[in-house]
Amino acid sequence: MPAPNIETIVSLSKRRGFVYPASDIYGGLGSSWDYGPLGVELANNIKKSWWNWLVYERDDIEGLDSSIIQNRLTWKYSGHETTFSDPLVDCRACQGRFRLDKLQDVQCLNHPAVHPGDDKECDLTEPREFNLMFRTTVGAVSSDEDESALAYLRPETAQGIFINFANVLNTSRRKVPFGIAQIGKAFRNEVTPGNFIFRTREFEQMEMEYFVRPEDAPRIHQEWIDGFQEWIQSLGISAGNLKLYEQSKEELAHYAERTVDIMYRYFPEREDEDKQWDELMGIANRTDYDLRVHSKKPEENGKRINPDSTEDLSYFDPQTNERFYPYVIEPAIGVNRTLLAVMMDAYTEKTNEKGETRVILKLTPELAPIKVAVLPLAKNKPEIVDMAKKLKHDLQPSMRTVYDDTGGIGKLYARQDEIGTPFCVTVDHESLEDNAVTVRDRDTWEQERVSVDALKEYLAKRLA
Ligand code: GAP
Repeated sequence: MPAPNIETIVSLSKRRGFVYPASDIYGGLGSSWDYGPLGVELANNIKKSWWNWLVYERDDIEGLDSSIIQNRLTWKYSGHETTFSDPLVDCRACQGRFRLDKLQDVQCLNHPAVHPGDDKECDLTEPREFNLMFRTTVGAVSSDEDESALAYLRPETAQGIFINFANVLNTSRRKVPFGIAQIGKAFRNEVTPGNFIFRTREFEQMEMEYFVRPEDAPRIHQEWIDGFQEWIQSLGISAGNLKLYEQSKEELAHYAERTVDIMYRYFPEREDEDKQWDELMGIANRTDYDLRVHSKKPEENGKRINPDSTEDLSYFDPQTNERFYPYVIEPAIGVNRTLLAVMMDAYTEKTNEKGETRVILKLTPELAPIKVAVLPLAKNKPEIVDMAKKLKHDLQPSMRTVYDDTGGIGKLYARQDEIGTPFCVTVDHESLEDNAVTVRDRDTWEQERVSVDALKEYLAKRLA
């Protein structure tokens, strides 16, 4: 039973320290969020899982960490300066400003029961294009309007990979097919952000650009669509809450030949099944668009000439003696949207023997922010406390472990269940005699007595 709606996760997140509203003490900042002690661990574990799966477990992917601020020409030639925009409309009646293609997702400011444009009083302007890139200036400039110092915060991490294609290729001595993976912040001045961390102006992406021979692109594209569905399910997200969406020709980004989105059921409370889904990630066949536009060499038909680049980003295949621009298959997924889907899917309610409802966050051991909580049954008994603290320190190097004595044992168990800790280890009076502890399973609430000498191995095995 996943969370019934995003609101349930918003309140759990705030209550337990996963995610807080940003700048809260100054009244907040629209759609900005800070990740607390548990949120940062969960996000790090998601990123580690992605990186391990792609960069460490495969033999054909390298990592990269490129700058957030790049030379403005990057965004000129990528096409973002001219095309990375949303159609915007203003309402003269309610003074609202909305994305034309998302009117059905928002409410009229005067009449929240209707969508903008659906009321006779609504008076929408003609749409105009609004560029989503955040502008900044670089260096000590005389004015913020100084065009020569203009720069952008990157709206996707991908371009940093394309402009480093030759660097990575040459230094790692790779051959096509191979990929470059990157995790990092991206920024978009979204017109209608919202739904908690689903759509924000600052977010984090995990993007991988996989360079292939053009004729192999359709097949490899499909392999990545299949592969990512499996990886997402390995995070504990059930197949029933995932589905594929094939973008129509009209929806495709300017660089894409085919894009398939993996959708998650973020809005299970909506009556209309079609409206329950939204994009978790996109997997695009970007063709050779990006490597060509960033190359100093003009295209044969004379279009898209780039006199500013110093590199030709084509690839020479030593086996076939051919030179060509590799096609790019791009699986791109947001850390924040993944975290939200993981939390929603892990959310479970269970009734205890007293008839009380308890929340259990059934995170996989890999993702759980805390793997083990060591709890003393009596905090006024120094020998028990010392033994529990020692256990915490012994376990900590191999698995994230915390010590907690700030409540009765029932309350401590409930707290750990709610944040997804797979195991609680309780030290009691008997432990002092038999050098054993009670290990409690989060999901079954079953308890088992385990000798302290065997504890680390026992937990490592069950967490694996
Ligand atoms: N390089 C391709 C690219 O950026 P995208 O579909 O625009 O494609 C990839 O973004 C992923 O980044 C999305 O599927 C989503 O998970 C995440 N994402 C995009 N915009 C976001 C936003 N405003 N807030 C949170 N996550 C976002």
